[in-house]
Amino acid sequence: MTKRLFIKTYGCQMNVYDSARMADLMLPLGYTPAASPDGADLVILNTCHIREKAAEKVFSELGMIRRLKQARERQGGRMLVAVAGCVAQAEGEEIQRRAPFVDIVFGPQTYHRLPEMVAQALDTAGGVLDTSFPAEAKFDYLPESPAAPGVSAFLTVQEGCDKFCTFCVVPYTRGAEYSRPAADVVAEARRLVMAGAREITLLGQNVNAYHGAAPADGEWGLGELILSLAHLPGLDRIRYTTSHPRDVDDSLIAAHRDVPQLMPFLHLPVQSGSNRVLAAMNRRHTAGQYKRTVERLRAARPDLALSSDFIVGYPGESDDDFRATLDLVAEIGFAQAFSFKYSPRPGTPAATAADPVPGPVKAERLAALQAVLQRQQRAFNESCAGHVLPVLFEKPGRHPGQLVGRSPYLQSVHAEAAPDRIGEIVPVMIRAVEPNSLAGAIAETAIAEGVHAA
Ligand code: 5AD
Ligand code: SF4
Repeated sequence: MTKRLFIKTYGCQMNVYDSARMADLMLPLGYTPAASPDGADLVILNTCHIREKAAEKVFSELGMIRRLKQARERQGGRMLVAVAGCVAQAEGEEIQRRAPFVDIVFGPQTYHRLPEMVAQALDTAGGVLDTSFPAEAKFDYLPESPAAPGVSAFLTVQEGCDKFCTFCVVPYTRGAEYSRPAADVVAEARRLVMAGAREITLLGQNVNAYHGAAPADGEWGLGELILSLAHLPGLDRIRYTTSHPRDVDDSLIAAHRDVPQLMPFLHLPVQSGSNRVLAAMNRRHTAGQYKRTVERLRAARPDLALSSDFIVGYPGESDDDFRATLDLVAEIGFAQAFSFKYSPRPGTPAATAADPVPGPVKAERLAALQAVLQRQQRAFNESCAGHVLPVLFEKPGRHPGQLVGRSPYLQSVHAEAAPDRIGEIVPVMIRAVEPNSLAGAIAETAIAEGVHAA
């Protein structure tokens, strides 16, 4: 009998990957994906704990799920509700207390046990909680995905973090750093390509700390791993995220120079431009070291576009510190970026740090920083107008007859194209720059139209 499984995913791409694996685990048990939680047999919220807002969203969503669960029961059915991911890991008992109708709570390191947890929950009235860090490697227990990955696929190669930035919950929710053996990664990449993926994004909380067992002996860093993946026929594009400035080593820089499939776009979080704040954050790099790393990367791949993460209003951040962040932004020039107000996370060292920055000051700094970052993003996108970019079409676009895909620099690009061009890399002449995307025409058509008009 088929059952319906609804998964809602919050937060980072690693959660997207984990949600897909959860669906893979439940498919052999008859659970097929559902587009809405209404009437589902199993609802999983795969949650994010990175900032307070993200975590609070879960509790408001649970209120809605509870009503659907009760409606299902009134009709004589049963809906299991599970909370997964980093909020579950950090606040498992709190969830059981505040939302006792939740049947299963499990963290990012135990989801390979999901089928057992579901069986147990169906058998018992009480809740099931598993937020342990088991000794067995989760990846060894995950089935090969039966689902088609799509044109652009995620592949987790590394998990957890040993850096302990003072503001961050990741070392506590995802645990110690772990790298998958290179042979496993290459085998999964090969399966993804066979199933239709043209682009793979290698994922890890600190992906360039990757140091997986090499196929013969010793270890490979991320640079070596990318070099090896570049030999897979049919894998046209490789990306990786999220990286740490301290772990950009020579072999990774060489990969940016030598591997044409490695896309010229890099998300390299800096957090702040002030050495004082960076030290307080335990980032283990200075603003100067960050700039030098960027210079070396740009020397290796001159068209490299950069993205970053910023936190404003970290405890003790002065006006001068904030100005140093603006200076760094002006000096480097980012193609896009994410910026956040500092949000104290329980259990992290910064949560109890002295000298918190008042809310209105945080808001003012965030607005000022975002104004500059948005100008830079706009300027970068505008610099693409009138140029032909190779676009990997991924899916239908907003309007009928359109497809949408990504440029090498991760910009969304819309163009009129036949649906059978999904999965192809096509030259697109960029004609219009919208706030969050580009629009253009397939360059063959642009030329043909030109000839026709003449
Ligand atoms: N407050 C605000 N932003 C945070 N981030 C991580 N922890 C916090 C926090 N406590 C941001 C960082 C990180 C991104 C994923 O989220 O910029 O790079
Ligand atoms: Fe968090 Fe710092 Fe690790 Fe990134 S490097 S996951 S910000 S502790």
